[in-house]
Amino acid sequence: MRALVVGGTGMIGRRLVPLLQALGHDVVVAARNSGDVRVDLESHDSIEQMFRSVGPVDAVVAVAANGPLDEFDLLTVDDLQRNLRAKLFGQIDLVLTGRHHCADGASFILTSGIFADEAWPGVTGGAVISGGLHSFVLSASIELPRRMRINVISPTLVGETIEASDAHFPGMEPVLVDDLVEIYVDLVEGNMTGQIIRAYGSGHRASTHDARRRRH
Ligand SMILES: NC(=O)c1ccc[n+]([C@@H]2O[C@H](COP(=O)([O-])OP(=O)(O)OC[C@H]3O[C@@H](n4cnc5c(N)ncnc54)[C@H](OP(=O)(O)O)[C@@H]3O)[C@@H](O)[C@H]2O)c1
Repeated sequence: MRALVVGGTGMIGRRLVPLLQALGHDVVVAARNSGDVRVDLESHDSIEQMFRSVGPVDAVVAVAANGPLDEFDLLTVDDLQRNLRAKLFGQIDLVLTGRHHCADGASFILTSGIFADEAWPGVTGGAVISGGLHSFVLSASIELPRRMRINVISPTLVGETIEASDAHFPGMEPVLVDDLVEIYVDLVEGNMTGQIIRAYGSGHRASTHDARRRRH
């Protein structure tokens, strides 16, 4: 399969790209400052240009762009709109624009995060982004043309080891990056659509496979 990995130079992307290549997929890496092709998820023109230059692909994986932390006491709607531009609207634009360029049956795999489901201080923007992505994927899954599929992976903190931690989120159990990238591969190669895969720690593999079984 030919797969476009947007954010393929980041922490998750750097592990996902070689795994896809080892499985025989032809991978095109896109990122803002490096990779095979440059794209800025904040710019519709840049997204359109990326799809034109890459040509048809069978999978688009988005592991790009972060919503910054915020301070609720000072938060304004303008801050929120800025926060949403790349990770929420940029990923949505990858689908709305990409559907015109991708191959029949192409698979879109977006990335959200645990704050859609869990309240933590300082992540109102992240919560809105991730909740919005989940709702978008449900709607798009029944609207996309030409047998295209769409799913979203919602990771908790991603770590190299189970002891990994983040000063901002004390006590949050990480998902191992090696386990996480296998979920992306399952979604590239499988036939699921309309799923929100919650990779929230040790139980996540079971929930992925349950979801896959339900669709078969
Ligand atoms: N790591 C975690 O613990 C974690 C947990 C939950 C969810 N997530 C989500 O998973 C995704 C990937 O995370 P990560 O840790 O791999 O991120 P990362 O290491 O910060 O890498 C981000 C990637 O996205 C690219 N990027 C950033 N802004 C972009 C933009 N405006 N347009 C196009 N590309 C852009 C970067 O390219 P350049 O370097 O060239 O800018 C890089 O390739 C993000 O959406 C993140 O929010 C991560």
